[in-house]
Amino acid sequence: AATIPVIAIDGPTASGKGTVAQKVAQHLGFHYLDSGALYRLTALSAIRRSVAMTDEHGLAKSAEHLHCHFDGGHIFLANEDVTQAIRAEEVGNTASKIAVLATVRHALYGLQLSFRKAPGLVADGRDMGTVIFPHAPLKVFLTASVEARAQRRYKQLIDKGFPANMEDLSKDLRERDARDMNRASAPLKPAEGAYLLDTSDMTADEAVKQVLGWYAAL
Ligand code: CDP
Ligand code: CDP
Repeated sequence: AATIPVIAIDGPTASGKGTVAQKVAQHLGFHYLDSGALYRLTALSAIRRSVAMTDEHGLAKSAEHLHCHFDGGHIFLANEDVTQAIRAEEVGNTASKIAVLATVRHALYGLQLSFRKAPGLVADGRDMGTVIFPHAPLKVFLTASVEARAQRRYKQLIDKGFPANMEDLSKDLRERDARDMNRASAPLKPAEGAYLLDTSDMTADEAVKQVLGWYAAL
């Protein structure tokens, strides 16, 4: 497995990781890991089972016994299609809160490694390059201004039929940035050797082109 290449794409919320990672994977014919979806699935599972946010053991159990599978762009929890449900802001906020727990992060470690299959993997999240795949040959850290990211998230939510307003979104985004960057376990930061890419004034396709260019130059 040591020779199966991994492209690690990390960055703050709504920086475009998911969009860029998926397009890069598609272009190279690689597998794709949306690690944030695993935290969202854990959050949804905990919400559904009424696990209290203070019950660290219960939350870790939710992560450990995550019965999920990914199939053709759809995400299933047990046998329910939750592709849409896990994108709700409430689920994202809960995911961000439980992601500070080292026990939850440890419980999801092996599952994340299992996505590394031939011919290669593009993995997106917060700690793909720092913790999960520290030996990835290509690591990218995507950023964009708070304004650009709030605008992107707003458009995504409205397009999916979820309610949204810019003020709440900007506030949520700043809170989520602070939680991601300040937690003790796997804080959000560029991995050693990561290429930084500020996409505030770039289209997703321009960002994809840059990442593919870096990969081709390895
Ligand atoms: O939509 P957003 O970028 O906020 O989140 P996501 O990538 O779907 O992930 C949901 C939450 O899980 C994030 O707010 C992060 O706090 C957390 N997460 C993490 O801690 N580590 C990862 N590798 C991926 C996500
Ligand atoms: O995964 P992450 O939370 O970082 O972001 P995402 O879910 O990929 O959302 C980013 C949104 O911004 C998508 O709707 C993209 O089409 C759009 N976008 C982008 O990803 N990159 C740009 N350079 C410009 C826009």
